[in-house]
Amino acid sequence: MNDTTSPVLVADNITVRYRKGRRHFTALDNVSVRIPHGTTVGLVGESGSGKSTLAKAILGLVPVTTGRVELLGEDITHLTGRRRRELGRSIQAVFQDPNTSLNPSFTIRRSLIEPLKAQNMLGGIDVDGRVAEVLTAVGMEPDAAFRRPRQFSGGQRQRISIARALITNPQVVVCDEAVSALDLSVQAQVLNLLTDLQRERGLSYLFISHDMSVVKHICHEVTVLYRGVIKESGATRLVTTQPVDPYTRALLLAAPIADPAMQRQRQRPTTAGAAT
Ligand SMILES: Nc1ncnc2c1ncn2[C@@H]1O[C@H](COP(=O)(O)OP(=O)(O)OP(=O)(O)O)[C@@H](O)[C@H]1O
Ligand SMILES: [Mg+2]
Repeated sequence: MNDTTSPVLVADNITVRYRKGRRHFTALDNVSVRIPHGTTVGLVGESGSGKSTLAKAILGLVPVTTGRVELLGEDITHLTGRRRRELGRSIQAVFQDPNTSLNPSFTIRRSLIEPLKAQNMLGGIDVDGRVAEVLTAVGMEPDAAFRRPRQFSGGQRQRISIARALITNPQVVVCDEAVSALDLSVQAQVLNLLTDLQRERGLSYLFISHDMSVVKHICHEVTVLYRGVIKESGATRLVTTQPVDPYTRALLLAAPIADPAMQRQRQRPTTAGAAT
C-alpha cells in the first residue's frame, strides 16, 4: 500500500462493555473507523450513542473489550509503558469543556506543558519557545502563557486547548465536541483554525459532534453512530446528500440550516411522495 494513503489511525471492530452494577452494558458494538493521513473523519450521533466511548477507547482511557486500535501502523490496543507513552505523543485530544485541559488555577503555561511532562519530553527542548510557537499557531499572543483561563473568552480558551493538544507535535487530534459549547460565529472561527492547522501541519482529526451541520462543514468522511452501532459511513458529501439510513436522514433534518430561505422551505408541510 502507498504510504500517503495508509491510515494514521484505525479502530477495528471495537466493542466496549461497561459494567453497570452486576450487569454489562454494550456502549459500542463492533465499530470500525479509519482515518487517512491529513483528513478529518466525523463521528456523529445523538447523546449516548457512544461517541466519547470510542474516543476514550482510542486514547486508551477505557479498556476495549474486543477489537484493535492501530496508530501509525502499530497495534496500541493493549500497549502500556514506555512505548505507549512514546506513541501517545502522536495522538492528542481536545474536549468540549476547556476546564478538562486547562486547570482554572494554573497559568496557561503550566497547563500547556503538562502533555510534555506526561510524555517525558521536557528535557533538551526550548520549552518556552515551544509554548510561544503553539500559542501563535492558534492565533494567541505568546504572553497569554502568563495569564489564567478566566482571563479569556470561551473561544480563546478553546484555542488554548488546541495549542495544548499541538504541543507534542501529534499527527492525530481527537476533537470530542470541541466546538459544541461555542456561539455560532466563534464556532466558525475555531473550525477554520482547525482546517488551517490541518493544511499547515498535515494533521488528521477524529471530529466528534452531535451536529450534522458542523460535521458537513469540516469532515471529509463521516460515520453515523446510533446506540453503539454504525448506521452509515462514507464520504461526507454522499452521506449528507444521499443518506441511505433513516436515522441519518433524521439527523440531517435536525441540523440547523444557515440559509433562512432553505429553512423556510424545510418547515413547509410536505406532500407525501412529492419529488424534491
Ligand atoms: N463509565 C461508564 N460506565 C457505564 N456506562 C457508561 C460510562 N460511560 C458512558 N456510559 C454509557 O455509555 C453510553 C455511551 O456514552 P458516551 O458518553 O460514549 O455517549 P456520547 O455519544 O459521547 O454522548 P454525548 O453526546 O452526550 O457526549 C451511554 O449510555 C452512557 O450512559
Ligand atoms: Mg460525548
